[in-house]
Amino acid sequence: MSKYQQIFERNKKWIAEKKATNKQFFEHLAKGQDPEFLYIGCSDSRVTAEEMMGLEPGDVFVHRNIANVISNSDLNTMSVIEYAVGHLDVKHIIVCGHYFCGGVKAAMQSQDLGLLNPWLRNIRDVYRLHKEELAAVKDEHARYERLVELNVEEQCINVIKTAVVQRTYIQKGYPTVHGWVFDIRSGKLIDLKLDFEEKLHGIQEIYNLGASK
Ligand code: CO
Repeated sequence: MSKYQQIFERNKKWIAEKKATNKQFFEHLAKGQDPEFLYIGCSDSRVTAEEMMGLEPGDVFVHRNIANVISNSDLNTMSVIEYAVGHLDVKHIIVCGHYFCGGVKAAMQSQDLGLLNPWLRNIRDVYRLHKEELAAVKDEHARYERLVELNVEEQCINVIKTAVVQRTYIQKGYPTVHGWVFDIRSGKLIDLKLDFEEKLHGIQEIYNLGASK
C-alpha cells in the first residue's frame, strides 16, 4: 500500500479510537467550535500544532505559513486574526517559531529565491531591526537561533498592531499575545515570556487603533 493510500486506513483507525474514548466525539465537533487559543506557527512538517500542545480537535484555531510571519498586507493572516479575535473570541494568541527553521535560515543568506523573496523580506526586516545585537553574536548557529527568537518577538508585535487585537483588549481585557519557540531537538516548547502589556503600550504610542470604534 502506498503512503498515500495508508492515510485513509489510518483515518479509519483514528475514527475508531476517538469513538472508543468518546462515543459522541464527532457529533460534538459538528455542533461548532469554541477554541480558546489562536496558534500561528511555521508550516514546517516537524512542528505540529495540536499534537505538541497535547490539545484536541476544537481546542485551537490554527494558521501556519513559512517562518510564522504576520504581515500587514497578507489578507490570509489578517483574516485569521480578525476572525479568531472578533468572532471566535479567543483568549490567547500564540506566535510559535522553531529552531532549525528553513525560512529563517534562507533569510540569513544572500540569495535570490524568486517568489520567496518578498515573503522572506519580512524576516530580513527583523534582521535589520536587530542588526547590532545579531552582529555581536559571533557563532553563526547561535545567531540563527537568536534570529528565530527575534522573529517571533517581532511577529507578536505585528499581531498587537492590528486594530481588532487592540480594540478587543481594551474592551474585554484579552486576548494576550504570547511568543514561543519550539525546540525540535528536545520537543520542548519555550515561552519567551514577552511582556504583553509593555509591548502593547509601546505599540500604542505609534500604532494606536484601539479607540477607532
Ligand atoms: Co520554519
